[in-house]
Amino acid sequence: MSVDKKRQLIDGEWIFSNRFYPLENPYNGEIIAEICRADESDVQKAISSAYRAQEVMREMPAFKRSEILYKVSEILEFRKEEFAKLIVLESGKPINAARGEMQRTVETYRLAAEEAKRLYGETIPMDASAGGTGRIGLTWQEPLGVVVAITPFNFPFNLVAHKLGPAFAAGNTVVLKPAEQTPLGSIAIAEVFMEAGLPKGALQVVTGYGEELSDALIADERVRKVTFTGSAAVGKLIKSKVGLRKCTLELGSNAAVIIEPDIDIAKIVPRCVETAYSFSGQLCISLQRIYVQQSIYRSFVEAFVEQSKLLKLGDPNEETTDISVLIHEKEAARVKGWIDDALEAGAEVACGGEGEGAMLEPTVLLNVNNEMAVSCMETFAPIVSIVPYENLQAAIDMANHSNFGLNLGIYTSNIFNAFDAARQLKAGGVIINDAPTFRVDHMPYGGIKDSGYGREGVHYAVQEMTETKFVSINTKL
Ligand code: SIN
Repeated sequence: MSVDKKRQLIDGEWIFSNRFYPLENPYNGEIIAEICRADESDVQKAISSAYRAQEVMREMPAFKRSEILYKVSEILEFRKEEFAKLIVLESGKPINAARGEMQRTVETYRLAAEEAKRLYGETIPMDASAGGTGRIGLTWQEPLGVVVAITPFNFPFNLVAHKLGPAFAAGNTVVLKPAEQTPLGSIAIAEVFMEAGLPKGALQVVTGYGEELSDALIADERVRKVTFTGSAAVGKLIKSKVGLRKCTLELGSNAAVIIEPDIDIAKIVPRCVETAYSFSGQLCISLQRIYVQQSIYRSFVEAFVEQSKLLKLGDPNEETTDISVLIHEKEAARVKGWIDDALEAGAEVACGGEGEGAMLEPTVLLNVNNEMAVSCMETFAPIVSIVPYENLQAAIDMANHSNFGLNLGIYTSNIFNAFDAARQLKAGGVIINDAPTFRVDHMPYGGIKDSGYGREGVHYAVQEMTETKFVSINTKL
């Protein structure tokens, strides 16, 4: 059976490249499409087109940019079930989680539409300095120009929305390079933007392998910003190559939660289970390490394991499936190796640890220390370790013992302990009385240490997609 050959969007035209790669459904291995494998000349054309279109976007009034983004949000609201199925097809995300992603995507573009009208500047009290007397000073935000967006497989619509929404709200043009595993969402969203009236050249979608394309995309000095979501290793490479240009890097983590003994564990176990295994743990803020005060440790482990065992593994298209495959068999093999290493070093499996092909059962590990890969590396898999602690300070120290720092969480009913932990925890976000896997799309989101550089969350991302211009008027000429 022949499959669809997908095109790339460059300069308002849907074009083929000279070569293709097969796109596999991660659940059943079927080839679902042939995807263009862009070469250097595609990249050059894409950047040239974005560069030519930058004046059009720069001159477009805010209300018009906002209208386009509202329209995108409306079209997505109307077509969200169709696109949720596309997410399932190319990423293996269970259908209910895919629906959740689409609902968030609708909102992310709506937030971007609102933000397009809120690009405020400031007036500066120039006479605060004697030299500024008689002058008026003000700032406004200007678009950067060409933005390169490199996006991951785990949210084929919403993490693309976190790049495109803010970039267009601020009046930029974009070359989008989606993850090679999930290009269909980006191709679909580009069609939606065309329908919504985005000018020709404002968005290009080039597809292919990251390592092949990223260098060429970043090397071109006409690109004024790179915004990337993905691994710390690639993020560091990008940072080393952008030089003085802007970049935003949303990288991974080994998110942890601390559970104090003043909490009713029956209330929180279901949420901890959900956030440890959602999309098989393939979220940058997936709950990977749980620190539980020792007086409630045994009962917490028992309840957590019991509920983990209830989860249904299987076909991501089925309404009742909780957990399906990892994005690729080799990822399952990687983490199974990490589990074996942990067992050899003294860890214990409380449940799970097995799985065929790209499937891995929800896995709970005990007796884990923070030198083991399952704890100190980002697993991006349905694996969680549960570790007892004696006092809160010890738990904070263990949670901080990490190269990452995206979101960390604490459950406690003691407000003093909650804020003390929030102050001490080393992360971009501290979530009190929820798992660290909490995110709504307007909150500031981003990490410290190996978890990233800069912030997303629509308002914050829009700011990072602009440059502040200062203008002064001498009123005493
Ligand atoms: C991520 O995996 O970085 C995004 C998580 C989310 O948006 O919920």
